Amino acid sequence: MSMAGIFKPYLMKIEHIIDETPDVKTMRLAFADEQEGRNFAFRTGQFGEYSVFGEGECTFCIASPPTRRGYIECTFRKMGRVTSSLAGLEPGETIGFRGPYGNIFPIHEWEKKNLLFIAGGIALPPMRSVIWNVLDLRDRYKDITIVYGARTVADLVYKRELTEWAGRADVKVITTVDPGGETEDWKGEIGFVPTVLDKAAPAIASRDTVAVVCGPPVMIKFTFPVLTKLGFKPEAIFTTLENRMKCGVGKCGRCNVGKYFVCKDGPVFTLAQLKDMPQEY
Ligand SMILES: Cc1cc2nc3c(=O)[nH]c(=O)nc-3n(C[C@H](O)[C@H](O)[C@H](O)COP(=O)(O)OP(=O)(O)OC[C@H]3O[C@@H](n4cnc5c(N)ncnc54)[C@H](O)[C@@H]3O)c2cc1C
Ligand code: FES
Repeated sequence: MSMAGIFKPYLMKIEHIIDETPDVKTMRLAFADEQEGRNFAFRTGQFGEYSVFGEGECTFCIASPPTRRGYIECTFRKMGRVTSSLAGLEPGETIGFRGPYGNIFPIHEWEKKNLLFIAGGIALPPMRSVIWNVLDLRDRYKDITIVYGARTVADLVYKRELTEWAGRADVKVITTVDPGGETEDWKGEIGFVPTVLDKAAPAIASRDTVAVVCGPPVMIKFTFPVLTKLGFKPEAIFTTLENRMKCGVGKCGRCNVGKYFVCKDGPVFTLAQLKDMPQEY
């Protein structure tokens, strides 16, 4: 957290920008003050408030892993006012970042287990951070499986990394697009994520396995029953919530669901915790 206070942003220089899809970009942000960059530490699963000066703030997870130091990355979709302004910026320009906020994926508790990552659409950014984190510590984990789906081939984000992960002998990657979203040369699966997961299930271990599910609410809703059918316990299924936030630090009451503040108690929750919430998330 910024030494000067929890609401004071770090100044971040946009180092480079990758166009993931026509409306999704990944930005690498370097700390304008190198000393602050060296001191900055976060853990996978955490998020921050990114500010475009004169426009406002928006909430994104930190999409890079804590194992890669000196910069952070965010991936965002152009949605409204702030994200549109952010999308208009160029390398070399400066934005604000305050954080890290929120809880973490408890990857140390997952050591010696199999990991199953299931993501849909733009929700791959929080997953990308945790996937790179465990791949950078690969020998601590057993089988790693990634199931990722998007509406169409054009909507798949992190295409270069999906190719890299798929090329590794120590990772199993299943990509899928919705029926009708395939191109002529598409070599992945065709079908919705929960269906593809169900089909792949015989090859996926459910004992000693932790599942992480990030995606649109409808995907999450249909994926949980498949995991439950496969024998996953609610405590072994993790997801992240993206409720609208303002302060990010448990002070404004904007983000609460039942007894939980998503910004402070989350954004990472287990299915066991979600079952304990009113169904408004
Ligand atoms: C913990 C957390 C992590 C997030 N991580 C990412 C990320 O990595 N990448 C990313 O692209 N987005 C992420 N989001 C969502 C992101 O915060 C919003 O899309 C963004 O703030 C919109 O800002 P805006 O000013 O451009 O849009 P606004 O002008 O504020 O809104 C534009 C439209 O988007 C809707 N909207 C805005 N925020 C949300 C939200 N949180 N949930 C649902 N609808 C919303 C509005 O209702 C409106 O219809 C995350 C949100 C949270 C809470
Ligand atoms: S965003 Fe203010 S309390 Fe959570």
